Amino acid sequence: MRLAPRDLNAFVRRNRLRVERQLLLIRELIREPRDMGMLFPSSSALADEMAGALSPHMMRSGAFIEIGAGTGPVTEALLRRGLPPERMIVVEKSPVLADCLSKSFPNVRVLCCGAEEMRDYIGGSFRARAVISSLPFRSLPAEAGSSIMSEIEAVLEPGGLYVQFTYALIGEMPHVPPIFRKVRSRFVMYNIPPAKVEVFRKPKWREAPRDCEVG
Ligand SMILES: C[S@@+](CC[C@H](N)C(=O)[O-])C[C@H]1O[C@@H](n2cnc3c(N)ncnc32)[C@H](O)[C@@H]1O
Repeated sequence: MRLAPRDLNAFVRRNRLRVERQLLLIRELIREPRDMGMLFPSSSALADEMAGALSPHMMRSGAFIEIGAGTGPVTEALLRRGLPPERMIVVEKSPVLADCLSKSFPNVRVLCCGAEEMRDYIGGSFRARAVISSLPFRSLPAEAGSSIMSEIEAVLEPGGLYVQFTYALIGEMPHVPPIFRKVRSRFVMYNIPPAKVEVFRKPKWREAPRDCEVG
């Protein structure tokens, strides 16, 4: 089978981009191994499973935050699913990767900061309909993990979704607030290594304190 010159150009461009992104990830992995927590970019199957947690109905309004976007495979999947770029905020701690994301997604607001401080940038009263996270909670120091999770809980609107992937196929996701309810858990075999995507919902109402209970 012979490729037409136009197809060949597109093929070369796509693969050059893939290699460039892989090299960026390796560089960052050498610099900050605990922050990266992975060797390969997320596959499109994994990225699509993460994006698929958002229903077309919930995407009709509100804001969405992606954290730990790396080189952007999940960002790409969210946009492919129809999320308007102007309602997305992407948070990435590595300046090199944040710069790569800004160039790849010029219409998306990219914040170069730690997820634990994102409300300092977007405002304390900001609420998101969903937080989609590729953060490697299992390799981050426990203290950092729990402060990021408090930030996620604070930024989510009541009833909002928290979507997280992990390479740990068994066991529970660390740091998830006990009031969150797990609503979905799916394996993704087409990824190196295979992964699991879990979706949690923040409750719509806070439980009333015990002394407020009506008898
Ligand atoms: C598992 S990698 C991202 C994978 C991404 N899906 C990909 O395929 O490129 C985790 C990302 O989280 C970022 N990260 C780590 N700690 C962070 C933090 N506290 N706040 C924001 N981003 C963080 C790392 O820089 C890295 O890009």
